[in-house]
Amino acid sequence: MAESAELTLNGQSYTLPVIEGTEHEKAFDISKLRDQTGYITLDPGYKNTGACKSAITFLNGEEGILRYRGYPIEQLAEKSSFIEVAYLLIYGKLPTQDELKNFSSQITQHTLVHEDVRKIFDGFPTAAHPMAILSSLICSLTAFYPESVSPDLSKEEIDLNVIRLMAKISTIAAWTYKNNMGHPLNYPRNDLDYCSNFLYMMFSFPTEKYEINPVVVQALNKLLILHADHEQNCSTSTVRLVGSANASLYGSVSAGINALWGPLHGGANQEVVEMLESIQRDGGDTQKWIDKAKDKDDSFRLMGFGHRVYKNFDPRATIIKKAADDVLKALGLEDSPLLKIAKELEQAALTDEYFVQRKLYPNVDFYSGIIYKAIGIPTEMFTVMFALGRLPGWIAQWKEMRTNKEPIGRPRQIYVGETERDYVAIDQRTA
Ligand code: MLT
Repeated sequence: MAESAELTLNGQSYTLPVIEGTEHEKAFDISKLRDQTGYITLDPGYKNTGACKSAITFLNGEEGILRYRGYPIEQLAEKSSFIEVAYLLIYGKLPTQDELKNFSSQITQHTLVHEDVRKIFDGFPTAAHPMAILSSLICSLTAFYPESVSPDLSKEEIDLNVIRLMAKISTIAAWTYKNNMGHPLNYPRNDLDYCSNFLYMMFSFPTEKYEINPVVVQALNKLLILHADHEQNCSTSTVRLVGSANASLYGSVSAGINALWGPLHGGANQEVVEMLESIQRDGGDTQKWIDKAKDKDDSFRLMGFGHRVYKNFDPRATIIKKAADDVLKALGLEDSPLLKIAKELEQAALTDEYFVQRKLYPNVDFYSGIIYKAIGIPTEMFTVMFALGRLPGWIAQWKEMRTNKEPIGRPRQIYVGETERDYVAIDQRTA
């Protein structure tokens, strides 16, 4: 017999069907609740609310499991490339050799952006935060490809927008940094793979030859894979919600970029490195900061510890911790003072009862900031790097939402404001 729940309200009984996912996660189907009872559910922050059915990413926060399209994140991080993972997320299967070659070469062919996009850079203050430029320019693609706003795009037209977005985001992202530095903007190089080309556009100068370090390319691939999707997080839910109004892919992703910019979401890895730097400036006494974090009267909080959905450990952090050790060793940075501070904090978090009890283990943001710093990515670009990695996830989720013909997102509320009252003329109002 199919499982269901009974809700008894004012003596009347209602049956709520139970929905079960392929990994046996269960939900009460309340889609008819208001029509049947006049009541809604209230769940600020949506901790208990499933907004959609999705076949893209499976996450089990209790057991620390993360899989893209069924493949464990550990295997993908070790064996795959970012572009292959992007294909997997967007098209639902691992590509054949021909499919991967074709996907990758199409992206390469679209890396150039319209010269008018280049001109827009001149309109931004040089000190503008790269995320402000990134979200604006991704949204501006709707102006360069106006047909992309149509709600009735064919599969081929959607695919073209997907390729354009995957290709142009890396050029625009690298240029946000170059613009910030007042450096000349580098055009993409089509002889390079995705990650190498991004590093080239970020770090090369027209005046000298730029050597691409394979250790850095490998680390970047891994970081982007680990960030590629994370089911219904804040920015992804934003992309789906905006997209549910039939907004374009570019517009929806631009909204996701803005959500990601929030310090409680994608801005966290930037805050980790800023915290480590401020501990270093203060003399590097980590015990002092650990004590401050434990003091309930002190507002200081350790950044990059614990996670909203992972209750015991973040599987991405386990992979990235090892990658951080390897990369820093390969780059000869294992003795850096910043790393020493990070290691001491990590040690405290893993052994000190206070942190263990509260499940404040180092999360993915703690280590990703350290690797980005080691490979020369400036701190204010960390969230841009997160966006670069998260893009295939956003695209896959936007496509899934469209394919499933999901209704426009329209949450309800419980109104707690004034009840009806009459308008008061201005000369009769009291302060
Ligand atoms: C993410 O990868 O999006 C973050 O860990 C945040 C989240 O999943 O809520």
